[in-house]
Amino acid sequence: MEIVVPDEYKYLYVRNAERPVVKVPDPVLRQVAAPVTKVGGTESKLIDEMMRVMRKANGIGLAAPQLGILKRIITISPHGMRPLALINPTITFREGSAIAQEGCLSIPGLYGDVERHLKIEVEAYDRRGKPVAFEMEGLPARVVQHEVDHLDGVLFIDKVGLATLHWMHPEGSDDDVE
Ligand code: NI
Repeated sequence: MEIVVPDEYKYLYVRNAERPVVKVPDPVLRQVAAPVTKVGGTESKLIDEMMRVMRKANGIGLAAPQLGILKRIITISPHGMRPLALINPTITFREGSAIAQEGCLSIPGLYGDVERHLKIEVEAYDRRGKPVAFEMEGLPARVVQHEVDHLDGVLFIDKVGLATLHWMHPEGSDDDVE
């Protein structure tokens, strides 16, 4: 799907120091990110930067390709949860389904309903390189599925209910963006 950005949203699509997230149609968002083979200082710095950008943008999730880095690293911060970095995340179990609205920091202003699995289990490495596993349900599970899709070059607009797509100003809205 080609996104035609309305004039009044175009300023959100400029990438600069204030808005460092890569936006559509940058081809990096459509590439498959490479697994991290060793967790070191470079990855630690990248995670710090992802956390900073996510917080500043009021995002609840971010994937490294959204900063132009093709590594399998995501950060998530669903409401009420301590921010978490997951390296090489793999979804090992999926159950149920739920439909809810999503947005994306790489497609600012566009929202729509996406069907996701309700419950998942995810295995990954933490920022110290230690294996971790989580069971998640609801919003955290949704955010992880959205971010893991980013690592495979998949965007929420590929899965959205087309009739539900709509533009809405992200500033001043309480809507979640990933
Ligand atoms: Ni996103």
